[in-house]
Amino acid sequence: MRFVDVIARKRDGHPLSREDITQFVTGVTMASVPDYQASALLMAIVLQGMSHQETAWLTQAMVDSGARVDLSDIPGVKVGKHSTGGVGDKVSVVLAPVAAAAGVVVPKMSGRGLGHTGGTLDKLESIPGYRIDLSIDEFKHVLRTVGASIIGQTATLAPADKQLYSLRDVTATIESVPLVASSIMSKKLAEGSSALVLDVKCGDGAFMKHVRGARELAETMVAIAGHSGVRAEAVITDMEAPLGRSIGNALEIVECLETLKGAGPADLTGIVKHLAARMVVVGGLETDQNAARRRVDDALSSGRALQTFQRMVEAHGGDPRIVDDYSRLASAPGHERLRAPRSGFVTALGAEAIGRASNALGAGRNRLEDPVDHAVGILLRASVGDSVKEGDAVMELHHRDGRGLDGALALCRQAVTIGDAPPPRRAKVLGEVR
Ligand code: URA
Repeated sequence: MRFVDVIARKRDGHPLSREDITQFVTGVTMASVPDYQASALLMAIVLQGMSHQETAWLTQAMVDSGARVDLSDIPGVKVGKHSTGGVGDKVSVVLAPVAAAAGVVVPKMSGRGLGHTGGTLDKLESIPGYRIDLSIDEFKHVLRTVGASIIGQTATLAPADKQLYSLRDVTATIESVPLVASSIMSKKLAEGSSALVLDVKCGDGAFMKHVRGARELAETMVAIAGHSGVRAEAVITDMEAPLGRSIGNALEIVECLETLKGAGPADLTGIVKHLAARMVVVGGLETDQNAARRRVDDALSSGRALQTFQRMVEAHGGDPRIVDDYSRLASAPGHERLRAPRSGFVTALGAEAIGRASNALGAGRNRLEDPVDHAVGILLRASVGDSVKEGDAVMELHHRDGRGLDGALALCRQAVTIGDAPPPRRAKVLGEVR
């Protein structure tokens, strides 16, 4: 089959066969399909879409391009979790130990910050000594002894996705539900979990700005998992404003610890408890959401979740004393307050602009090789719905010697809207796909 015919078929809106898709993925991995043909097919997929069946075949071909982690010798039910990314999205750091303390084993491979969104690996690396590059044997040892481990994606999992992702990045072909869903799911399926809970973020700070697109992505990912025999469900959660009150790596680790101690912000605590309960149900430990929720509440209130986090940090070579002594985490020397320009109610805190501001301070990267400053970031001193007086602090920017401060302040000013009346309450969970 000439590859040009495969491109033409998709261009004309016809479905691709499993053989077409396998030829594409193998061709990209073995370099027998040149980048210009691969890019042409990617653009045809963006414009014409793919059925769930085609997307499942694409995902499977990407999984088959590399190794698959075998967790079958680890006792217990292994439930993975993935977030599509947001601002202040520290859920994985809290959720992994909470779900483990509630009875499931949580093998988690995470990524770094992408665009204006933060990355779990960068947050964890702000813990002195924490290694994200464990070998698969070390990863499995931590899972066996602690019940939760968060590491970086290994290069051997779904290598075809890595190649396709870099092509998509430079050919304007990132924004496509089948391509995003297959990219994410190829890595998740290769991780070896038997069940999966997906947190699909939706709103200003997410890649999916509207519920319709978020639901389509959620349905596609759940369908792909079903085709591969993995139980999965997705929760669509709000990302209009940053999650919690801290944005930036070490600042977010402090908020995670506060949440594990029962003193975290309500939005973060609520989402963690909801997702952890779903992990307990999807993992088959409970059939009923209320029973699952009781397990999760107990894991947190008994202190077991906090202990699990501390043991996970120690098993990864990190300093376990950070749990009781936040001064062991990096902190930035400069603090600058952004004050309310008028009295009223905070009606919006645009997550994307705040994520960009945090990156401008040095908490994220512009290029892959840029170093991250773990200390800098932003603390929200007011939340959406709060009443403020003119001159009250709305945000506190933690900076190093003024680096990026002017740009960050401009972005933060643009992010805050103050109105005369409180905004309507927005639900934190916007939908579910089971
Ligand atoms: N994250 C991924 O892993 N892949 C995409 O295509 C988009 C976000």
